[in-house]
Amino acid sequence: MQLVFSIVNKMNNLDEKEMNLISTASNPRQNSCYEKDEKRSLIWPPPPARPKFNPRLNLGVMASGNGSNFEALVKAIQNSELDAYISILVVNNPNCEARRRAKRLGVPCVIHDHREFSSREELDEALVKTFTNHAVEGVVMAGWMRIVTPILIAAFPNRLLNIHPSLLPSFRGLDAVGQALKARVPISGCSVHLVTPQVDDGPVLAQAAVPVLSSDDHQSLSKRIQRMEHQLLPLSVAIAGQNWRNAGQN
Ligand code: GRF
Repeated sequence: MQLVFSIVNKMNNLDEKEMNLISTASNPRQNSCYEKDEKRSLIWPPPPARPKFNPRLNLGVMASGNGSNFEALVKAIQNSELDAYISILVVNNPNCEARRRAKRLGVPCVIHDHREFSSREELDEALVKTFTNHAVEGVVMAGWMRIVTPILIAAFPNRLLNIHPSLLPSFRGLDAVGQALKARVPISGCSVHLVTPQVDDGPVLAQAAVPVLSSDDHQSLSKRIQRMEHQLLPLSVAIAGQNWRNAGQN
């Protein structure tokens, strides 16, 4: 994260033509089209330099499974890379790893088990209630494996974010990594976008490009994309947070 911020700050001083290919893994000045650094990645747009929010952003997070993106947000906050706090994590699976991470990291967690609701709408009403009770400013879907309805979306207009493991609009929906491998694309990546009623379709806030290596299988590509997700998500929340605060000034 530290590395990304410093590289991204350097990137801010370059003009766009010089920006043909900027690596998050190596010094941009050393880039050449013959360089043998096949794992380099690109995050775009460059985020603002560690924006301060007064008061800090109050976030809600939703997760269904492993929760590594949730933890990446917590770590970015702990490292003062994201000026925010997470007032509540909502999980829909009582046994998920995200819940265990929340306990370890000291983040309050509540379970809204989708099996206990008679419809998607009812579940989303419960989510809105929880997030409203915690007065969150924005909500991050960090691996939420349920389709959300206009009830949740309308409660947080332009304030509901999702992370998806592809360069949207390519490979929406399930198993985006598998779709990318099947399509034999040379570059895939991840996107953070605002949530709209169409699945994986809202305006993109930021993306990270990740090369697909000829040696890649599902596991190796997923792993490299996830590594970039963990950098992209906190940066995207910072970008979104600036938008929220700027909108509040108008
Ligand atoms: C991520 O790959 C994200 O893009 C997708 O679900 C996955 C969640 O991973 N929406 P984790 O639970 O954060 O580890």
